[in-house]
Amino acid sequence: MKAPLYTTHAGEYEKAILNNIYNAHYERPTMLSMLPDLKGKSVLDLGCGPGVYAEFFVDSGAEVTAYDLSPQMIDILNDKFGSVVKCNCADISYGIPSEKDLSFDIVVSSLAIHYIEDLSFLFRDVARVLKNDGYFCFSTHHPMVDYLSSPSGNYYSRELLKQAWNTIGQPVPVQFYRRSLTELFGVISSSGMCVTSLSEGAPSEVLKEIAPDSFEHLSRKPAFLFIECRKADCLKSR
Ligand SMILES: C[S@@+](CC[C@H](N)C(=O)[O-])C[C@H]1O[C@@H](n2cnc3c(N)ncnc32)[C@H](O)[C@@H]1O
Repeated sequence: MKAPLYTTHAGEYEKAILNNIYNAHYERPTMLSMLPDLKGKSVLDLGCGPGVYAEFFVDSGAEVTAYDLSPQMIDILNDKFGSVVKCNCADISYGIPSEKDLSFDIVVSSLAIHYIEDLSFLFRDVARVLKNDGYFCFSTHHPMVDYLSSPSGNYYSRELLKQAWNTIGQPVPVQFYRRSLTELFGVISSSGMCVTSLSEGAPSEVLKEIAPDSFEHLSRKPAFLFIECRKADCLKSR
């Protein structure tokens, strides 16, 4: 993964997402509204970035394990949390082999899975480490939004998209995969999980006050998709 936004610019990225529109006033409020009570729970944060979520999980009384590919992000996490969060610098596209079976109540992955080409190893491993009554909640780019940038015009083919984002106030090159809903839902079910909740997000009420045009835009046009999965076996036995 060539990702200067998350390596070279990790510190600027951390500052930018604390109060920006897409993370602070759209993605995080939506994701947090989907999560169950975290007190006393074991939470795995995959693609944790600078730890804005990890901080919320710790403050909510959870025991947190976090993974990121970027050493700079993991340095930020270690500085912030020391041994309070178990921080791991690793590529989650190969799964999370060091984690034990049935060990997490909640697995969260915010805006990270679109950096992974083949999701099958990761999703199978998430199902393995989740407790039987656990939740896997993730967010990713909305497939129909990414399709607008498709070079091939074939919605069903998985494609690497290359763009420049202004997240930190200057254009930084990024690349990520876009995939169809068919592929995404296929990976979820072949990993032994099923979708139990889906959201296309909602901007925060605060955004209505501070950036009414963005509030209006995000109220009409979703940017991300939010999915809650549970283990299929556990749901069958209920
Ligand atoms: C958009 S940031 C999101 C950070 C955090 N989840 C949040 O929402 O605040 C995506 C993060 O995923 C990480 N990432 C991308 N590909 C990864 C991989 N294969 N393994 C682990 N982390 C990865 C990046 O380094 C980056 O920190």
